Amino acid sequence: DDLETLAEAIRTADTAAVLTGAGISAPSGIPTFRGDDGVWDHFDEGQFTYGRFRSDPEGFWADRLELQEAMFGGEYEPNAGHEALAALERDGYLDAVCTQNTDGLHRDAAVAARDGETDAPNVDGEGSVLELHGNARRVRCTDCGRRREGEPIFARAADGELPPTCDCGGVYKPDVVLFGEQLPGAVIQRAQSLARESDVFLAIGSSLVVEPAASLPRRAASSGATVGVINLESTPCDAAVDVVRREDVTEVLPRLRELVES
Ligand code: OAD
Repeated sequence: DDLETLAEAIRTADTAAVLTGAGISAPSGIPTFRGDDGVWDHFDEGQFTYGRFRSDPEGFWADRLELQEAMFGGEYEPNAGHEALAALERDGYLDAVCTQNTDGLHRDAAVAARDGETDAPNVDGEGSVLELHGNARRVRCTDCGRRREGEPIFARAADGELPPTCDCGGVYKPDVVLFGEQLPGAVIQRAQSLARESDVFLAIGSSLVVEPAASLPRRAASSGATVGVINLESTPCDAAVDVVRREDVTEVLPRLRELVES
């Protein structure tokens, strides 16, 4: 069947990559952005732009703390979908996992799959997990550029330091890509070359509506890759790809891994 088609393509590929979105973390308890009860049902997207951060850092941070609580307030850990991809990468079948998610779960899964060993931070476009939209567990100083663990900074902001600032006096920004902000250049460039070079490329758990990530599967398809979309709902890419599976990631990805590795 067509899952076997994807498995065979992965087994025989020289280069293979995936793009994931919020759907892969939904079974871990993190809400998706779109659809019923999505994050953008409860929050106004327009309040989380780079422009708002620049003009009203205090208001931005107050709203951001609420958004973070809604998204990441619970306990969460990688699920069978993250684990299957991390295993495929560790075992040499995937070159990289590109993700739009900022929850850090692919990195956790990669670390767990390697028994605690991990590769370098991936803000330079290296490593096996490419976080296209950054990582919400970190903050970055907008003046000196220093990155720091987010938790203590979020606690200071929650205690009323709005916006939280760095020792250098600069304002901290969550280390994520806001609307109206460029993606980290090295990271998106590596993802785009992977899409171009891939023999097989999968888009997993994403509505595929936010650019430039949404174009990666199309880019792969037009360079001749076997392309699959795994998502509960239809996407604007479905018509352009080889295989579409409307299935839960925690069901289909472990099965795919089994087919590849058996
Ligand atoms: P969306 O919320 O737009 O789409 C998530 C998709 O996952 C939906 O189409 C669901 O049908 C699907 N889905 C949900 N649960 C699933 C499951 N268990 N198995 C399979 N599919 C499932 O999320 P993204 O496409 O990731 O950007 O959104 C892209 C970007 O929009 C985000 O990175 C964020 C947001 O605004 C920024 O913050 C810059």
